[in-house]
Amino acid sequence: MTIQTKKLVGLDSQQNQLNELLKRTVSFGESNSVLVTGQKGSGKTTLVNNALASLSNHTFYTIKLDGIYHTDDALALKSIIRQLQLELDLETQTSGSFAERLEFVISTLKSGNQDTVPIVFIVEELDLFCFHNKQILLYNLFDVSQSNQTPICVVGTTCRIDTLLILEKRVKSRFSHRTINIYPVATFEEYLSIAEELGSDMDENVGKLLKDKQSMVSQYQLLNGKYPTSKIFADLIDVKNQDQMEQTIHELSILEICILLSIKGLLSKQHELFNFEMVYDEYREFAKRLAALGKGMGRLHFTKSVALKAYENLACLGLICNSSGIASQCPKEYHMARCLLTRLQIRNALATYPDVLPSAIMKWAET
Ligand SMILES: Nc1ncnc2c1ncn2[C@@H]1O[C@H](COP(=O)(O)OP(=O)(O)OP(=O)(O)O)[C@@H](O)[C@H]1O
Ligand SMILES: [Mg+2]
Repeated sequence: MTIQTKKLVGLDSQQNQLNELLKRTVSFGESNSVLVTGQKGSGKTTLVNNALASLSNHTFYTIKLDGIYHTDDALALKSIIRQLQLELDLETQTSGSFAERLEFVISTLKSGNQDTVPIVFIVEELDLFCFHNKQILLYNLFDVSQSNQTPICVVGTTCRIDTLLILEKRVKSRFSHRTINIYPVATFEEYLSIAEELGSDMDENVGKLLKDKQSMVSQYQLLNGKYPTSKIFADLIDVKNQDQMEQTIHELSILEICILLSIKGLLSKQHELFNFEMVYDEYREFAKRLAALGKGMGRLHFTKSVALKAYENLACLGLICNSSGIASQCPKEYHMARCLLTRLQIRNALATYPDVLPSAIMKWAET
């Protein structure tokens, strides 16, 4: 079986630690146990796979368990027997009581000595096994890993940093207490450098996303649980990096621009939340202002239904987003929404609009 390996940035010491530990089991028959901890997606499985791949020129068996699939010890035991059968060519039925199966697995493991082919147990989401009745499987695996029988290494992975605390006392005392921790990236800059180092493997769209620093703000927030400091923020929303939003505004029709300017008008009146009716009222006020100046609307006159289509289009383009939880219960004209652009962003983008805009619109944009 070939194992997929993947380069992990910034995890060299963790990788060496795990490789070394597994090497001791497969080369010298030393039994062991270790827990790899880290957040979801932090690279635990990749770390384990890389370690297994680094042992490709040694003889050993791998048994994989996963707390998500093996929801109780009976299922896990069945899977162990099936995998042992494949590896060892054993002729045993997976039927029989739980106790019989446990007895079979333990006696198979205990029948060996230090020269027996080593077995590496990979226990993904090990914390979930702590909720199985009396933690029987963990108890037995850790117990074998402390004896001089078949060399085994139990490698657990978990997202829970308190896993050791939920191990029962007799299970905990059989665990080696070795842990390999994958820490979350400390700063946004570190995250960027990982992303950049991986650059060569990234697909084009991910690259684009990383360049669009607007989305970085939300990624930063997700990663760090807080918003960037003003200095980092200023860097993130550097006007030069707003190309994408600007580009979207430059492709809007005159009607869509009128709607966007009506929204801008509402923002200047501190209406962070608005609905189509409010936006259309704002548009009517603009028409009234033009009439007061003795000017007609000309090609700036649009009926309400046409304006609604343009409003919906702004939502499709991601310039505004729905923000009401009860959206489906009232007509769409009343769905509350918020604008994803600031007044300044709208004004700056319109100042560089590639086509010639009617002077009334230019004046409206500048207010
Ligand atoms: N430091 C890193 N450098 C490079 N790639 C990484 C790094 N951390 C995570 N990845 C990538 O993120 C993806 C998810 O990693 P992996 O599946 O190993 O995480 P995990 O910790 O096992 O997640 P889970 O808890 O969901 O099982 C993989 O494609 C992995 O290569
Ligand atoms: Mg994983």
